[in-house]
Amino acid sequence: MDPQVLAQSVTLDGLPDDLAEALIKVARMRPIKAGAAVFEAGDPADGFYALIEGSLRVILRGEEGEQVLALLSPGAIFGEMALFDGEPRSASIVATKASRLAFFDKHAVYRFADENPAVYRHMLCIVGRRLRASNASLAARSLLPLTGRVAQTILHLSDLFGKTVGEDRILVHHKISQADLAAMVGAARENVSRVLNDWKREGYITRISGYYCIEDAAALRALASL
Ligand code: CMP
Repeated sequence: MDPQVLAQSVTLDGLPDDLAEALIKVARMRPIKAGAAVFEAGDPADGFYALIEGSLRVILRGEEGEQVLALLSPGAIFGEMALFDGEPRSASIVATKASRLAFFDKHAVYRFADENPAVYRHMLCIVGRRLRASNASLAARSLLPLTGRVAQTILHLSDLFGKTVGEDRILVHHKISQADLAAMVGAARENVSRVLNDWKREGYITRISGYYCIEDAAALRALASL
């Protein structure tokens, strides 16, 4: 793809436009099929990525299944942690549907970032944001009942994929299975399903064409507050 067109179509997670435009020139485009892994936890790092089109899951696999740490939407940057701390990949990244990635080779990134230190500041922001989200979900796990944890997860997804469709009404424009939701919450699918059904009855959420729609964000915020 023409780098100029690409630079206009991708936000690179809020990186200032001039830097995004310059950086995207060293990117290599990479398609990825639904269900395929971009890389696995423990792999050595050869660069970082931006999601141009599609959607990805950040997961950790264990003997008992997998934990979904996050879902990534277009514009997200990932794979920066191992690049900067020199450790292996901290999680696996799997395509939820057919996706398109921009890959940034580590040597080109180091060179570019040394010439443009604002890139380091930006990467620190991304890592800081993730740490805050992880802290919030860690605290929720020990301090909130299941309803609060599900509310916190749905609100987090609405920050990532939400479209405001009315006062206090947010459509979460991303197909999320109950299994993924349960893996993010860290609870059994049946229990998460029970909470969602209760909320549908109480009018807190609805389903519109397979998407969750938050009908009463204030009620969910109240449940999610520590
Ligand atoms: P890296 O460790 O290189 O490879 C896995 C990537 O997943 C990591 O960089 C981050 O970009 C991303 N990642 C790891 N943990 C989280 C998290 N809790 N939330 C969102 N993204 C994450």
